[in-house]
Amino acid sequence: MRFWYLLLILLLSACQTEDQTDSNHQIEIFTWWTSGSEAAALQSVIDAYQTQYPDVKVINASIAGGGGSAARPVLQTRLVGGIPPDTWQTHHGAELMGQYINPGFVTSMKDLYESEGWYEVFSPSLINMVSKDDEPYLIVLNLHRSNTLWFNKLVLSEHGIVIGETLSIETLFEIAEQLSRAGVTPMCMGDTGIWATGIMFENTLLGTLGPDRYLGLWNGSTHFMDPAVMQAITTYGRLLDYLNNDHAALSWDQAADKMARGDCVFYSMGDWAYGEFKRDGLVENIDFGWVAHPGSEGTHLMVTDGFTLAKDAPNADVTRDMLRIMGEREVQENFNLIKGSICARTDCDRSRFGPYLQWAMDEYANGVAVPTVIHGSAAPADFQQALNDALTDFVVRRDVASFAETLAREAQMSGFGS
Ligand code: GAL
Repeated sequence: MRFWYLLLILLLSACQTEDQTDSNHQIEIFTWWTSGSEAAALQSVIDAYQTQYPDVKVINASIAGGGGSAARPVLQTRLVGGIPPDTWQTHHGAELMGQYINPGFVTSMKDLYESEGWYEVFSPSLINMVSKDDEPYLIVLNLHRSNTLWFNKLVLSEHGIVIGETLSIETLFEIAEQLSRAGVTPMCMGDTGIWATGIMFENTLLGTLGPDRYLGLWNGSTHFMDPAVMQAITTYGRLLDYLNNDHAALSWDQAADKMARGDCVFYSMGDWAYGEFKRDGLVENIDFGWVAHPGSEGTHLMVTDGFTLAKDAPNADVTRDMLRIMGEREVQENFNLIKGSICARTDCDRSRFGPYLQWAMDEYANGVAVPTVIHGSAAPADFQQALNDALTDFVVRRDVASFAETLAREAQMSGFGS
């Protein structure tokens, strides 16, 4: 009896030792970065980590699906089930607050902000966007711009078209008509994930309303039945008429590749598309160009990507090292050059970045930054979902009034509509 008891104790302590050994010898990082440029950018961070910590195994638990449409539900199930990854990707604002901070799924990073000097190298407004009660919960890697209209310069020049510094929506429609008549597909889209067409809608909404009335949508001072919103929906519907026929079968990055090949010409998409164009070997200002999405000049529709520290992270110590490395200047520079975004840190070396990213830096510095609903920052997740459903319906039925009514009703139900 005594022998069996001792054997049991031995076995238990052996298991415990093994647990302790395993814990902090691996780290699980959860993202939706699986397109060519996204995966390469993430790998640059993992590589930087592994250079310093070669003995820690990094589990890359990324789930495909741009915008996180497939990853976020899986993450929620894991969080509710008490099996969190150590760290995961998220956006600032409503998503970080509503999905992770308020339910208590994340740990404050204030100690890291203090020890790493991050209060000096991130802007106070950015730190504010990722904080609750003065406790920051996210290390931000990058700032994306969502309201960029990309175009294939070579195809346009074959048709005698040159785009200047800006482009009005009416000129865009004139060019689209000309290209259509010549048998060229004017607009690019890959909306296997509805969020991608949502970007074109959100950009059109911003371009039509301007920043003040756009911001008013999220604080109740602009009604979703406002004539300007109806006009934006109508314009968005007109843009849909010029899309590539196979848009519903393509992902956002396949649509970027299509533009790169010259099989369609304009793409209203966040600058993660830039990462794909570069990866496809395109040269900026020669093969492709860009302007602000028509009407949205001077406004920066801002998408952030940052990483959390799970509450009770299985491997908290090594995860802190990973987060610390994400905050390093060179790591941010290397990541953003591949990803197509600008550093969240304010002291990155501008000269390392090409013309587009320098333009994006200036637009961000001099323009008005506004939050995105498609990427979860402006409004709660329920509204985001309702917008995606309404978009799916609109793409098929093209009912402007019903789209606006749905958004107005959902905004009220989410508690911010007027
Ligand atoms: C966004 C994310 C970007 C980009 C994009 C497409 O939500 O912030 O970094 O990856 O999705 O997947």
